[in-house]
Amino acid sequence: MCDAEVYEHGDLPHDDLVTRVRRKQGLLSVVTDALDRAVFEAGSDLKVVSTIAVGYNNIDVAAARERGITVTNTPDVLTEAAADLTWALILSMTRRIVEGDRLTRRGGWKGFALDFMLGTDLRDKQLGIVGFGRIGRAVAARAAAFGMRVAFSSRTARASTLGEVMPLDRLLSTSDVVSLHCPLTTETKHLINQTTLARMKRSAYLVNASRGPVVDEAALVWALENHLIAGAALDVYEREPEIHKGLLSLENVVLSPHLGSSTIETRTTMIQLAVQNIVAVVSGQPPLTPI
Ligand code: GLV
Repeated sequence: MCDAEVYEHGDLPHDDLVTRVRRKQGLLSVVTDALDRAVFEAGSDLKVVSTIAVGYNNIDVAAARERGITVTNTPDVLTEAAADLTWALILSMTRRIVEGDRLTRRGGWKGFALDFMLGTDLRDKQLGIVGFGRIGRAVAARAAAFGMRVAFSSRTARASTLGEVMPLDRLLSTSDVVSLHCPLTTETKHLINQTTLARMKRSAYLVNASRGPVVDEAALVWALENHLIAGAALDVYEREPEIHKGLLSLENVVLSPHLGSSTIETRTTMIQLAVQNIVAVVSGQPPLTPI
């Protein structure tokens, strides 16, 4: 048994977090909490920080470790949900589902026509996956069902039966759909920028369900407005929940509100795992999924 203080009003302001973390042994957090040195200094009793997410770019893990604080996340349990969401974005974008929904609702559909709202086939096209982690590989595993070949690019990618490993430049210039599945680090911030977008095919689509700052949103708007790529589908943004105004007015962009792992089953399992990690560390046991 232990006491818990729960903040139930949305994003917890950083100052408030710094105050509330005092005298707590465990901190259960989400992706919007900036867990920096100030939090760990104030939380001098902290033994464990458990984030309900796989990504942990919001946590200064080195600063936590310096103070002997264990940091845990929730890998594996959300892999399939995140891969499914990525495919939902790929299909919505290439088959213009969201654009068609908007048009239908505003009364713009005048009836069947052979050349109406043509999308793009996926069969025999190349899906370029940036990142060779669990989610990237799960996205790749689904590609066979759609007849796509897969290319991977990442620092850790090894020869794989799932697809060909190639340098990022080649992946960008040869892929029909480019999907980002790398963590946000200092190396991957704005990995997709004016230069890398200009390498993509004019007929290609960009998908981002990783972390917003991997894409330079202003550069993406520039590329879309200048027809350097055919479209984009985004689940994450540079300054969530703010979205670059230029993206909001473009028909060939699908925007979802950070839904990667948001199914009832997956979120329930993530929360259970995150709580188990806290209970384990606070009671002197090893955590199930340490970072
Ligand atoms: C969500 O974005 C996560 O990292 O789990």
